[in-house]
Amino acid sequence: MTTIKNLLQKEDFTKEDLVFLLSVRGEEQQLLFAAAKQVKEKYLGNVVYFRGLVEYSNRCNKNCYYCGIRMGNKQLDRYTVSDEEVLEAARLVQGNRYGSMVLQSGECSGKAFVFRITRLIETIKQRSNNAIGITLACGEQSEETYRQWFEAGAHRYLLRIETSNEWLYKKIHPQNKRHDYSARLACLGLLRETGYQVGTGVMIGFPMQTVEHLAEDLLFFKQQDIDMVGMGPYLVHNDTPLASKQGNVPSLEERFHLSINMIACLRLLMKDINIAASTAMQTLHPFGRETAIEVGANIVMPNLTPTKYRENYKLYENKPALNENAEDTKKHLERQIKSINHCIGYDDWGDSRHFHVRNS
Ligand code: 5AD
Ligand code: SF4
Repeated sequence: MTTIKNLLQKEDFTKEDLVFLLSVRGEEQQLLFAAAKQVKEKYLGNVVYFRGLVEYSNRCNKNCYYCGIRMGNKQLDRYTVSDEEVLEAARLVQGNRYGSMVLQSGECSGKAFVFRITRLIETIKQRSNNAIGITLACGEQSEETYRQWFEAGAHRYLLRIETSNEWLYKKIHPQNKRHDYSARLACLGLLRETGYQVGTGVMIGFPMQTVEHLAEDLLFFKQQDIDMVGMGPYLVHNDTPLASKQGNVPSLEERFHLSINMIACLRLLMKDINIAASTAMQTLHPFGRETAIEVGANIVMPNLTPTKYRENYKLYENKPALNENAEDTKKHLERQIKSINHCIGYDDWGDSRHFHVRNS
């Protein structure tokens, strides 16, 4: 008990400190949560920001070993949401006063794809009179594409590093130029230089990953001075190569504890960044999302993808709310968030405070 109390007094953590903190359970874990909660309250208040999520396309040029929509998976129908449907989602964002939306997609880089995204950003910005903040999660792109989308009006970008350890990265991706760790890292740099609020993240509890790797991931976020983090548990998808390694995956309970401790530790380490309560967290545990918020997360992404497409955007098994409409999702979320004494930051982009502090 003395160790954890002493550790929680510290302003900064070493890798060894983080390995210890990620491993705590029971009473010690409660102390970790209480400290993280206090930091969030002090720096950000008990406010949760919504981002209406559109899973724009499940077409992807890549073959990540863990992902259900990898190019090699032929067990699903490929789709791209129509422009009209994206604009309808944007209307829902405004009607529901969410303030922001996220366009997430498998990785495509053709000219037509890049152009369509540019036009959609411009149209959403125009039609909402700049009321809607736009975050993109469309993978690795050229510097020119990042700039084009930024100039069109997108101002935040999420690109998960998946794991900050290059050796481990190679284990969960094919060995070719399309899945190159250095290229991914370089993209994070390009995004920063372009002017975006930059988000990254990792999967937690996949085969071969250790607590030491996770501690390194947290230090990586800090070292990169990242503005936003979205991270969540690894969940198996049966039609992927990594599914054959299920024996090496920590139990569901263990992955839940690791994920929640990761969020709490990150809040202690980076006090004013945005941290998302991921959908994968909610898949793993019925109160996963609320727990994530209670220990440090401040962003939630209600799914606004038209329901007919959702079955085909399954990155992992048992993804929730495949049929829930926007209205039900909103009511459900509002109730849950109020039940943990948080409020919702309506009509606000909910930018990363960290980004603005760095740039002021
Ligand atoms: N389990 C959990 N997260 C996954 N992702 C992809 N596949 C899985 C999986 N099986 C995450 C990756 C990716 C994001 C879009 O979804 O971190 O960056
Ligand atoms: Fe494509 Fe992203 Fe899935 Fe990799 S994780 S296969 S890049 S959608």
